[in-house]
Amino acid sequence: MGLHAFRLRRFLESLPPAELQRVEEPVELGDVAAMHDGNAKAVWFARAGGAELAANVTASRSRLAIAFGTTPDRLLAEVLKRLGEPQPVTEVKQAPAQEVVERDPDLTALPVHLQHGYDGAPYISASMDFTRDAARDVTNVGIRRLMLRGRREAGVDLNAPSDLRAIYQAAVGRGERLPIAFVIGSHPIDHVAATMRLAGDELALIATLRGAPLPVVKCRTNELRVPADAEYVLEGYLDERGYAEPEGPYGEFLGYYGGVKTNPVFHLTAITHRKDAIFQAATISGRLLSRTDTAQLNALRAEVSVWRALETAVREPQAVYATPSSGGAFNVRVSLRQRVPGEARNAIAAVFGCLVNVKHVFVVDPDVDVFSDEQLDWALATRFQAERDLVVAGGFRAMPLDPSLGSARTGSKAGFDLTLKPGMDARLPAPPRYQGRRFESLEAALADGPKFFVELMSARGSRDGREIVRELETLRQSGRLERDAEGRYVYGAKST
Ligand SMILES: Cc1cc2nc3c(=O)[nH]c(=O)nc-3n(C[C@H](O)[C@H](O)[C@H](O)COP(=O)(O)O)c2cc1C
Repeated sequence: MGLHAFRLRRFLESLPPAELQRVEEPVELGDVAAMHDGNAKAVWFARAGGAELAANVTASRSRLAIAFGTTPDRLLAEVLKRLGEPQPVTEVKQAPAQEVVERDPDLTALPVHLQHGYDGAPYISASMDFTRDAARDVTNVGIRRLMLRGRREAGVDLNAPSDLRAIYQAAVGRGERLPIAFVIGSHPIDHVAATMRLAGDELALIATLRGAPLPVVKCRTNELRVPADAEYVLEGYLDERGYAEPEGPYGEFLGYYGGVKTNPVFHLTAITHRKDAIFQAATISGRLLSRTDTAQLNALRAEVSVWRALETAVREPQAVYATPSSGGAFNVRVSLRQRVPGEARNAIAAVFGCLVNVKHVFVVDPDVDVFSDEQLDWALATRFQAERDLVVAGGFRAMPLDPSLGSARTGSKAGFDLTLKPGMDARLPAPPRYQGRRFESLEAALADGPKFFVELMSARGSRDGREIVRELETLRQSGRLERDAEGRYVYGAKST
């Protein structure tokens, strides 16, 4: 695969105009946020704050699907398939990511912009972190924002439960710094891998999701390995003081501000980058969460967890969709083929338990498209009785950032069983399809057995239908036509 196939620039070049807005004229950093907030397209600035910058790269399911060489509805299946086919990590000595090595590095020389009105400072937002977990002897990868504190210092938000938080707390417990590298400017697949929390080495996870060996290179000022085809690498460490400095406020991924938190500090020791490097920003918050990188990445990660839980709980999940407009996990839709009554509730229980962030689960039959807001609305309106089909339970571990919790530490969850209930007519009105046996007359067709109107049209090869009405009228007048309970026409004995 070499060092070109998964380059961010190459991915941007592959995007059709419907997915990409190119901005050729120079843009001041102060104007960047407004240009990608709520933008349905990826934005590629030729010059923003003096450098090349890409934003919103993973902020749509269609772009994620392009990255995986598939379509939005088949994205989860493709990710699950790749997860079953592990790929290796290979070390290289010469890396594009190290074409330029800055040993007197300066964070304020990078094109880092203020993202939301009340943010504490400009934030680096698409920063993938690489650390070693000594206890498990694996590389841990995540995405963590960096709040600029100066030329060589940034705040890191490490409040939420994560592997990195545990690794860092262990280092602080030993009184040690934690070496860390932040990669900025990556292929969307690398961001998908970084967002997942699966056991094992996460460099290998990047390779596996890429479907190709991952070339890595050793950092210049620490022992960490990072993707050799990245755009920028910030090398450094989190200091041994632990949670020591204020970080925030910040426009969070649920569409509200998070407060000032006490968080660790990152110290920069080197910056390496490509000669023609592209910096990258991720959208986190805003009015339309479905157009943020965070929600789209969260959604895919949630879908993998939910799918795996459903495979155990019910045999036939058909589709899973975590809605990005809910932040990518709070509202989850599942379609399944219910074999015995009650399976929809089993699915609800399984999804409640498999992810902290899931709050609401909607279960539908396979005829309902989980990607369609309109079809979900219809199923909720027509297949659901609140008293009977709503499952509510409380006291669950909750996502502390959820503003609706107030001061509560645990939260509640609701499941909506929107499947067809026994006795409901599962046939759905749709345009007629003309198929079945031909007969030489309407009487012959009816003599063969009761028939729906469409079958009578098919029987006579009619593409109109009105002549069938006229013939039926004649038969009715002769006293030989009846209807059965389902509405089929029946050829009866002449009534006297
Ligand atoms: C764009 C983006 C930014 C993120 N920023 C943070 C962050 O600042 N702090 C955090 O704890 N998690 C953040 N996350 C979530 C973590 O990256 C995610 O939970 C990851 O799986 C954690 O990895 P780990 O458990 O292997 O350490 C972010 C996710 C995305 C997609």
